[in-house]
Amino acid sequence: MNKILVVGSLNLDMVLKISEFPKVGETISCNEFLKINGGKGANQAVAASKLGADVSMIGKVGFGSEGRQILNGLEEVGVSTAGINFEKDENTGLAFITVNNNGENKIIISPGANYKLNSSDVDEHKQLIEQCDLLLIQLEIPIDVVEYTVKLASRLGKKVILNPAPMKMFSDQLLSKLYTLIMNETELEIMSGESAANDKEIEQAANKIKNKGVEKLIITLGKRGSLLLNNEETVFIPAFKVNTVDTTAAGDAFIAAFSVGKLKGMDDRSAIQFASKTSAIVVTKVGAQSSLPTLVEVDQFQEAL
Ligand code: RIB
Ligand code: NA
Repeated sequence: MNKILVVGSLNLDMVLKISEFPKVGETISCNEFLKINGGKGANQAVAASKLGADVSMIGKVGFGSEGRQILNGLEEVGVSTAGINFEKDENTGLAFITVNNNGENKIIISPGANYKLNSSDVDEHKQLIEQCDLLLIQLEIPIDVVEYTVKLASRLGKKVILNPAPMKMFSDQLLSKLYTLIMNETELEIMSGESAANDKEIEQAANKIKNKGVEKLIITLGKRGSLLLNNEETVFIPAFKVNTVDTTAAGDAFIAAFSVGKLKGMDDRSAIQFASKTSAIVVTKVGAQSSLPTLVEVDQFQEAL
């Protein structure tokens, strides 16, 4: 019982390390430029696989070297790429990421082939949905494909974890079909239409979403940890202290690790602890897939004091 299917995006990240973000109208040079495999879907797939799960992915890349490079990266860590289709005349997804000295980032995506993923692609690989124990999905692919996939998976009795990133509006009906909804505070603000500037507001906004029929809701709060709302409790769980270099893919790693933890039979709190440890390691390293740890690294993790 450890088969994870990710239905989502694949990007090549163009990472520009800078000291400070440029102002409007300003031109600056970067300190370093790196091309690193990314995309929220692919990051979650790689993270789960490195933590020991049996992972497959459904998604789309363009013809050409970028798509190949991304697929190679997935295959190297054991992710099955049989569900990834190629789109002629379209570029592979690209993400332009600036990372400042504090490890904060600003990301602009050119979705390319990710936005060409359609319900026929999902149908073509329906077997992967039938075979999985847990399905992870995000919003870097067309929203109608997300709705289609969640409904199909739910009809097949599959557990679905939705990470509504980047946030787009979707039907409330979808929320009740989920096993778990995981998002950050910005996404919470957009989805709830409420301010989430302090713990009290975050809890209120989260309750509003939970009451729409979400079974389990987790709000990731970066350095401050995360908030869990399940049918038994609402509880803040602190993050581990580390020296932040680059937060890219921290959320993706958290979601993947939580999923792996649950498949291993952990209770929600333990799975979140495991997820927090995993993302703590991710923020100490540059890049998306380049920063994802193995299970051994997570087990050996030591908090910075
Ligand atoms: O969550 C991080 C990811 O967001 C990056 O890898 C980038 O590709 C964007 O999709
Ligand atoms: Na990182």
